[in-house]
Amino acid sequence: MAKTTAKNAPAAAAAPKASAAKKAASATAPAANGQSGPSVQPILNQQFNAPAALQKYGTVSQRLPIGLDTQVRQESVEMLNQMLADTCSIRDMYKKHHWQVVGPTFYQLHLLYDKHYEEQDALIDMIAERIQILGGVAVAMAADIAEVTSIPRPPRDREEAPIQVSRLLEAHQIILKNCHEFAKRADESGDDGTNDLIVSNVLRTNEMQVWFVSEHVVDTPLARAE
Ligand SMILES: [Fe+2]
Repeated sequence: MAKTTAKNAPAAAAAPKASAAKKAASATAPAANGQSGPSVQPILNQQFNAPAALQKYGTVSQRLPIGLDTQVRQESVEMLNQMLADTCSIRDMYKKHHWQVVGPTFYQLHLLYDKHYEEQDALIDMIAERIQILGGVAVAMAADIAEVTSIPRPPRDREEAPIQVSRLLEAHQIILKNCHEFAKRADESGDDGTNDLIVSNVLRTNEMQVWFVSEHVVDTPLARAE
């Protein structure tokens, strides 16, 4: 069997021409197996014959009638894509630390990190869908998120629990500062839905998580009351 590598796949792919693809899709003649009806063969590699993208990243459309003009949508989408990339980063940092945590606080941090991961994951969907409602295009793939986020990249190495906590608190603070600024700007531009999402969901969730995480780096004796 011929071996297909990632290197030669796009060039060697026998992508059907658009016209041939349409013909194949609408074919109703009896197939080789004797069955009639449309071809059951999936049409692969369609991206190589694709026309222009439906919508370019960074643009906004007025497709949904939500009573906001283009300039307001554009400003909100830019803010929300920054918030989305930062939220993806802190979500993934929580999972990294969930896997790599060590030490006497392992059990509680292992569980707490995963809880916060799930909460950040829920925020991601809310932010991304708000971007789509506003007529924008949500940033999505890891490589693109790495370019957009302002949260410093942690090393691949396993780190001590207090260092993990410090990194998380720093990331939360970056997000929270943006929350205050972006919420104010959305309020001033009249985008109440974005303002509400930032304050009621993103800001409140991050503040709550800061509280739970911070208690793990308070320098206090565990066994003797002072
Ligand atoms: Fe797990």
